[in-house]
Amino acid sequence: MDGTRTAAPINLERIRKQYPDGTVAVDSLTMDLAAGETTVLIGPSGCGKSTVLRMINRLIEPTGGTIRVDGVEVSGQDAAKLRRSIGYVIQNVGLFPHQTIRTNVGTVPRLLGWPKARIGERTDELLTLVGLEPERYGNRYPHELSGGQRQRVGVARALAADPVVLLMDEPFSAVDPIVRTRLQDEFRRLQETVRKTVVLVTHDIDEAVRLGDRIAVLSEHAHLQQFAPPAELLAAPANDFVREFVGGDRGIKLLAVTPIPRERLTPTGGPSKAPVVAADATLQEALAVMLREGSNSVVVTSNGTPEGVLTADDIVATLAAPGKPAPAVE
Ligand SMILES: Nc1ncnc2c1ncn2[C@@H]1O[C@H](COP(=O)(O)OP(=O)(O)OP(=O)(O)O)[C@@H](O)[C@H]1O
Ligand SMILES: [Mg+2]
Repeated sequence: MDGTRTAAPINLERIRKQYPDGTVAVDSLTMDLAAGETTVLIGPSGCGKSTVLRMINRLIEPTGGTIRVDGVEVSGQDAAKLRRSIGYVIQNVGLFPHQTIRTNVGTVPRLLGWPKARIGERTDELLTLVGLEPERYGNRYPHELSGGQRQRVGVARALAADPVVLLMDEPFSAVDPIVRTRLQDEFRRLQETVRKTVVLVTHDIDEAVRLGDRIAVLSEHAHLQQFAPPAELLAAPANDFVREFVGGDRGIKLLAVTPIPRERLTPTGGPSKAPVVAADATLQEALAVMLREGSNSVVVTSNGTPEGVLTADDIVATLAAPGKPAPAVE
């Protein structure tokens, strides 16, 4: 990774797709997607998510509106060239079955005419990045890998030519829940390294909360109901549609995306027997420690030094009023 290439912002302006049979998949969607962030599109089946994604790389031509990638309208660009600068990952990957893993990953660099040696280096670098040892997996064929491994190859292939944008359509939905969680964790780590502008489609709210910097909740015809960071979406759903969509357990989901409120901590007042959590943990981790240890408070430490005490009441109060100081406890 040379790290010099910046990710590109994406601007959707009143984009529309009416299919030839009259179906309006996307009515009039306007959204600005920040460079280097992961934006999740979520909504019920048939609401137009895939159509939005596929209009960005021009696999589908919009029937209205404007799409800009890095400030440049995509409609004026050569479609094949555009697609080489945009990584695309789909469910079940679509690897070429008669090509080795290395050859699959090198697809776009080959189309771009990179020298052989550079393609080889890049391919091995990417396979390592997604956790597949090149010596072990590089010469296998797709059917010789597990579903989760194939999905990783799909991500490596999409990243091979260092695209400025990565589009992912339900990339982890074809694997079992345990593998899915692992792939999601890997994706998060990967994204911390590569910092692409990612647009990820899912209909799994837990996946959206785990992976999104921002979540766009869409209803039929890709009507945008709310576009907000996960914590905001869970804490303050904009309307009944969003409230229903995020689920009645949104308070529990919110724990996982809320950091420990340092301003609420009270002094430890000397040595304590309470269990310990690190200051960079989430409220979910803090609560998990309390429940596991049967304690209604934890000592929050930073680099091993106690910073203060967090109580179960503090957790409840934080979720009730994020950012506000705790009410006095009698
Ligand atoms: N080629 C087509 N011709 C006509 N209608 C289409 C076509 N492709 C998709 N549609 C319709 O457009 C709407 C949006 O489809 P799209 O695939 O974007 O939904 P989605 O949100 O990705 O759904 P899912 O979660 O099931 O993948 C649906 O009503 C679908 O039936
Ligand atoms: Mg879809």
